[in-house]
Amino acid sequence: MEETGVARSYRAETLQEQQAAYDDWATQYEIDLCAMGYRIPAVMAAVATRFIPANTAPILDAGCGGGIQAEPLAMLGYGPITGIDLSEGMLEVARAKSLYQELRQMTLGEKLDFPDDKFAAIISSGTITPHHAPPKSFEELIRIARPGAPIIFSMRDDPAQEPEYPEAVAALAEAGLWSKVFSTESFYSMPYGEPEITHRIHVYEVT
Ligand SMILES: C[S@@+](CC[C@H](N)C(=O)[O-])C[C@H]1O[C@@H](n2cnc3c(N)ncnc32)[C@H](O)[C@@H]1O
Repeated sequence: MEETGVARSYRAETLQEQQAAYDDWATQYEIDLCAMGYRIPAVMAAVATRFIPANTAPILDAGCGGGIQAEPLAMLGYGPITGIDLSEGMLEVARAKSLYQELRQMTLGEKLDFPDDKFAAIISSGTITPHHAPPKSFEELIRIARPGAPIIFSMRDDPAQEPEYPEAVAALAEAGLWSKVFSTESFYSMPYGEPEITHRIHVYEVT
């Protein structure tokens, strides 16, 4: 059987392999994910309407890919939205949608080229996950979010999740840098393509 784009991205061992996987997949990514029944963008948009007040700006979409997450947010009137992603190919797909105020190539897990306290809300779907952005990505997201800003992210919770991710989330809460506001129930995020993968969406508020 031919390897899926999801499987290739979860096999990547280096940033270069990850970037190449998404550059190659970029124009086919949404077609594949929609066929897999990709649920995260709809669930996250619903969560956003509950925890991001209207007129909150600016918003960062961290690991925006081709922009599938910003679409429902823009439809709901959110913006301006800035997107960052590792893959230029994915950013190119996002650019064609004219949804974002700004789109920049940046690497989560490294220092981000934004000042402290810039964003009033941050979302991140499908990105801070094994073989993608590492657990320490959260530290920089907290730095560039304003005090009180919600950070809404998806996180795997199936048995193949790496424990370092929930451990990092808990350690930052213990250090008083953010506090938990809400988590969804666990749900099958790609039921027709990767039926063993589950996620929750979490909302944390920056201290
Ligand atoms: C599963 S896609 C999710 C994209 C989009 N948020 C969505 O929900 O469709 C994962 C994205 O993370 C990006 N990515 C992987 N590692 C990254 C890193 N360290 N920093 C920034 N982006 C990264 C990939 O290029 C890809 O666009």
